[in-house]
Parts: sequence; structure tokens; C-alpha cells
Amino acid sequence: MTEIEETAYAKLNISLDVSAKRADGYHDMVMIMQSVSLGDDVSISLNDSGRFSARCDLRYLPSDDRNLAVKAARAYLTKLGKNDLGAEIEIKKRVPVGAGMGGGSADAAAVLRALNRHFGGALEDGELNALAATVGSDVAFCTFGGTMLAKGRGEILQALPDMPDCRFVICKPDFSISTPELFGKLDKVSVRHHPDTAGMIAALEKGELRELCRRMYNVFEDIDDRRMRTVSDIKSALLDCGAWGSVMTGTGSAVFGVFEDAGKAEKAKEELSRLVDFRAVASPVGRLV
Ligand code: C5P
Repeated sequence: MTEIEETAYAKLNISLDVSAKRADGYHDMVMIMQSVSLGDDVSISLNDSGRFSARCDLRYLPSDDRNLAVKAARAYLTKLGKNDLGAEIEIKKRVPVGAGMGGGSADAAAVLRALNRHFGGALEDGELNALAATVGSDVAFCTFGGTMLAKGRGEILQALPDMPDCRFVICKPDFSISTPELFGKLDKVSVRHHPDTAGMIAALEKGELRELCRRMYNVFEDIDDRRMRTVSDIKSALLDCGAWGSVMTGTGSAVFGVFEDAGKAEKAKEELSRLVDFRAVASPVGRLV
């Protein structure tokens, strides 16, 4: 039996735009994505049982193929034609679930990275990207990480200059927002504001954190939903604490503020305790593959 360990780094959406609804029911997106130092611990035991399962410290998470980490392990080994092999995956969750931080996708991505390393880079980047996209919309980005422009369902990736060093203060309210539900609501309204993606890329190219933060925007925040009022309250509190910008990630419900100053970030984490229980300070993480 071989045991492989990997950190499943979460993602944040620095921006999120939806450009069109597609014939297949999915939406075309334009997103600037960033991997962050908050991550789950993933450990994979390869065996010759031909069976796959996951064990997680959050008991309510599925242990079968509904768990993206299991789906990823099966997909990878099938792709390599190693049909005799199986895997037991153990996951220690640190990334909040239902937060828009790609937690399940990050676990799947960690499995793909770990297995591809174990098998000597058997899949090239393009093949790994295509396989990741079959597992879930955010798995491709989470596999490669760093700072990227993601298009299509999120699988068309273009590397951007690394985000300047900073601290993210991440706050997850005690409710989650269903991704299909939020996309459904978006279909019923006309999107009034779009993020200035080109301006954000220019800011990254110049290494200007403040210019980037000023433009952070997520089109889902404009949806009329009582939960967005909590999101808005958290954003205001983060800005009051000195964040250079604040935005909801993915379909929520986590909200983050970007701080240039680590001390201010720690203070903000304390200050936000009056609004939200889950708070974490994290940093940007560069390319993983
Ligand atoms: O790919 P994932 O399973 O995360 O998507 C969950 C749901 O979110 C999809 O079934 C779809 O309703 C919606 N979605 C979408 N467009 C995307 C990603 C997700 O409409 N690009």
C-alpha cells in the first residue's frame, strides 16, 4: 500500500462575471481566481482492491462517488488504464463547506495532483486540465492554482501574474447558498454591473494591489436575496477595518476582504466576531503545478 499526502488549497474569486447561459444549461463565466493558503489535508492510500472510498472528519460528507475526491481518483486511474488499483482517501476539512471556496473541488484537485506526481507526471498539463474538468467546474483551476483567468465553465485557464502579497480575511456566515438556485435567480434578472476584468488584469500586470482591490466584483451580489444583506454587512465591516476591497467568492456564502497589512487583517478577524463565527486569515498561494 502506498500513501500520498497533499494539501487541497481553497480558491477565492477575485472577480466573477457570467457572460451567457449555454444550451447545456451551464453558464459561461469570466473569473479571476486565486488559490489561498487555507486548505484541507488529503491523504490517499493506493491499494489493489479496485474500490474507491473517502473518509472525512465531517461525517455528513459523502464517502462514495458523490465525493469529488473519489470521482477524481477513479477518473485518474481509469484514464491510466490501472483498473486493478483502488484508493482510500482521508480528508481533514479546514475549508468551510458551502462557502464558494471550492472545497470539494480542491480535494479532487489535490487527488489529481498527488496521483499525477506519484505516476511520474503521466498526464501532461492539457490532459490533466481536461480530466479535471470532467470531475467538476472548479476542479481544473484548483489543480493548477495560482492567479488565473478562468472562462467557459471555469475550465479554460490562462495564467496571470501572481497576485501581490496580501492577507485575505475570510468570513463564512452560518448559512450556505445553493449554487443552482443562485444561477436560476440570475437567469431571471438582467445583470446591471459587470466587473472590469481587463482593468484587473492590467492592475495585476503592474503589481498594483489597490487598483485590483478597487475593481473586485461578483455579479451574484446584485441578486435581490435577503442573504445578500448579510453579505453586504460583512463587506462593510471589513472595509471599515481597513480592507482595500471586499467581495463574495463564487456563489457564496463566504466573503473576504483584502488587507495589505497583516496586523490590520488579524484585528479585522477579531472585530468581525460580532457578525460571523467562521473567520480565517490566509495568503495568496502561487502555481501548484
Ligand atoms: O459544476 P458544478 O457541479 O459545481 O455546478 C453546480 C451547478 O451550478 C450546475 O448544475 C449548474 O446548475 C450551475 N452552474 C452553471 N454554470 C457554471 C457552473 C455551475 O450554471 N459555469
